Amino acid sequence: MERIALVTGAAGGLGQSVAAKLAEAGWRLVVNSREGERLARSYGDNHLQVVADCSSVAGSRHIFEVAKAHQMLPTAFAHCVGNIRLGALHRLSETDFAACLNANLISAFYTLAAFVGALRDAKCPGSAVLVSSAAARIGTPNHEAVAAAKAGVEGLVRSAAATYAGNGIRINAVAPGIMDTPASTAILGTAMGRDAAARQYPLPGIGSPDELAELMVWLLSDKAARVTGQVWSMDAGFSTIRPLVR
Ligand SMILES: NC(=O)c1ccc[n+]([C@@H]2O[C@H](COP(=O)([O-])OP(=O)(O)OC[C@H]3O[C@@H](n4cnc5c(N)ncnc54)[C@H](OP(=O)(O)O)[C@@H]3O)[C@@H](O)[C@H]2O)c1
Repeated sequence: MERIALVTGAAGGLGQSVAAKLAEAGWRLVVNSREGERLARSYGDNHLQVVADCSSVAGSRHIFEVAKAHQMLPTAFAHCVGNIRLGALHRLSETDFAACLNANLISAFYTLAAFVGALRDAKCPGSAVLVSSAAARIGTPNHEAVAAAKAGVEGLVRSAAATYAGNGIRINAVAPGIMDTPASTAILGTAMGRDAAARQYPLPGIGSPDELAELMVWLLSDKAARVTGQVWSMDAGFSTIRPLVR
């Protein structure tokens, strides 16, 4: 059977890495962004390109309607939509908090709902991988908005994995530390910022979207057939170890 995967946020840093690795592994792709031009710049004429804002019910359903019209039912789904909004709780604006929730949590909720709905209608098994953050696992200053949104994503993943296990639908998440993508330009854009960020990790350095994409593609594959309801950290030890304690 032909393997078809959906990548949302496909014009972003992580989305492009995941799409490239899925294509390499033989998946046909449906790629999504809110802007057609960004998809065309990233993919030329390749793949089924769907313009939609998946942080709304209508937008997320639209992706699956277009895919269905092209006889493409994605049985794998990588949700690479999100943003980083940093700022202390008492200073973060209502607009920034709403933008953070929309991009990171609301989009995950609606698009995962549309994905499992389409699979159930077709009586098909499948697999989804969402993206959390190390900030959901350990308290880091000024990350209140993104930590709250990503903790929501982790709760969504566990509950949905339980609901749809009987349908053969696996749902997991990955939780990276900082990665070199457009979302982190404000932090990594200067040599000083980059160096300071790299030194915060027990295994010093900055993560690459390609490393995380490798894990995500594995989670979507049959090699991970017994894995569901998990959040896999790839954060160089940031959320779990204290190497300086003697
Ligand atoms: N980079 C990091 O350091 C880091 C660390 C931890 C977690 N993450 C997570 O990794 C995932 C991928 O992000 P990235 O690093 O690849 O960043 P990115 O290059 O900025 O890509 C994220 C994509 O999300 C889409 N998006 C943003 N806001 C949206 C909204 N309100 N509704 C719909 N789509 C929206 C954008 O796509 P369009 O504008 O093309 O629609 C954008 O290309 C995100 O979930 C992010 O939170 C990143």
